[in-house]
Amino acid sequence: MSTTKKKLYIETYGCQMNVSDSEIVGSIMKGIGYEQNNKPEDADVIFINTCSIRDNAEKRVKKRLQEIRILKKKNPNLTVGILGCMAERLKEKLIEEQEFVDLIVGPDAYRELPEMIKTVEAGRKAINVILSEEETYAEIEPVRYGDNGISAYISIMRGCQNWCTYCVVPFTRGKERSRNPETIIEEAKGLFKKGYKEITLLGQNVNSYIWNESSHVDFPSLLKMVADVSPQLRVRFATSHPKDISDDLIKTIAENHNICSYIHLPFQSGSTAVLKKMKRSYTREWYMERIDAIKKMIPDCGLSTDIIAGFCTETEEDHQDTLSLMKYVGYDYAFMFKYSERPDTIAAKRYDDDVPEEVKSRRLTEIIALQQELALASNKNDIGKTFEVLVEKVSKKSDEELAGRNSQNKTIVFPRKSFKPGDYVMVKVTDCTAATLIGMSVE
Ligand code: 5AD
Ligand code: SF4
Repeated sequence: MSTTKKKLYIETYGCQMNVSDSEIVGSIMKGIGYEQNNKPEDADVIFINTCSIRDNAEKRVKKRLQEIRILKKKNPNLTVGILGCMAERLKEKLIEEQEFVDLIVGPDAYRELPEMIKTVEAGRKAINVILSEEETYAEIEPVRYGDNGISAYISIMRGCQNWCTYCVVPFTRGKERSRNPETIIEEAKGLFKKGYKEITLLGQNVNSYIWNESSHVDFPSLLKMVADVSPQLRVRFATSHPKDISDDLIKTIAENHNICSYIHLPFQSGSTAVLKKMKRSYTREWYMERIDAIKKMIPDCGLSTDIIAGFCTETEEDHQDTLSLMKYVGYDYAFMFKYSERPDTIAAKRYDDDVPEEVKSRRLTEIIALQQELALASNKNDIGKTFEVLVEKVSKKSDEELAGRNSQNKTIVFPRKSFKPGDYVMVKVTDCTAATLIGMSVE
């Protein structure tokens, strides 16, 4: 009997949670004899882990599926599976539309994959899109693919029940649930032993983390527990909801050197009227007050955000409120999007998508241009400062340079000398672009 392993190729779209989920899927598939393979042409199984957050995310996946269809034609034994948020949102409709697809599995059903693969091997289609109130894949040790051996993700909570009116996530990822802290600490210790130097704790609303079973652990105490694994281990987290940025959390970041001085805090819109329509549960003023608290307690804190341009009813004045909030905060980085109506969301049901496409585009262009200025100003302000940098890789542009990030999450490029990935190096910033700091190591 042949002992050659079967080959699995996974392609991941969307957020960091999806990247982390693909690593869990990799681990489950390894358990039934599949090894990861980088070439879809050679694979026995192709999984596409999908995203539904905006219409163009789904369009991209559908385009890719047309290429996969050709591979399946060439190799009828190939199994093609659709995973993640699109699988959850569209369910069997996806198979009706893409008849060559063998398997549809939602984000909470990955443990069922071994059984589902058997079903496909028996010549039937397999669908499981059941959402769970408990699943956290707590004890599954993810396969780490394609990371740099230095930074890794740990998924600590799943789901979302904030029901922001524009958002598909509560439909695709189900209710909020937190993972047992002991398993999180074990995973962090294991990663540190393997040489990892940076861990990012992940969740749709990571700072809403709460564990109330054998012990009581909230997000600030979990962060501290992970930071205590080693002072040589950096800790980050993503993504936060402004409602849960408590003073206690800010204080915990401020007091622990290895919890990075960086917060990704999506504000979505600078207008209180629009925020209300989005059901974000905070006002412009409340958000600004949280930013003030962060800047007071962590003066050097890196800040980034998510912004949506052209949500239903957004006026020119609302848009100006978004621009002025951006200036008030002075973000280092932003993810900026045009509003994309998603089927079945509260906004799709109750509001008109009434901002014309060209107005959305123009507003987004203005937001992007302003962010470019803010990023450049923030980087210029760092010239002359010295930061501790965790080296991640040799720079893309030159073998003679290394690239890493500082605590504030900014990328810094500097001469290689005898440093290597995984080292902490003190680097003085000498120059910059809007995207990168450039520096020299100092003794
Ligand atoms: N249209 C545009 N952007 C969206 N986001 C979420 N839903 C939508 C939508 N329907 C953005 C938000 C969120 C980020 C992950 O994606 O800014 O924070
Ligand atoms: Fe996309 Fe949201 Fe699903 Fe992540 S959770 S894959 S961003 S829809």
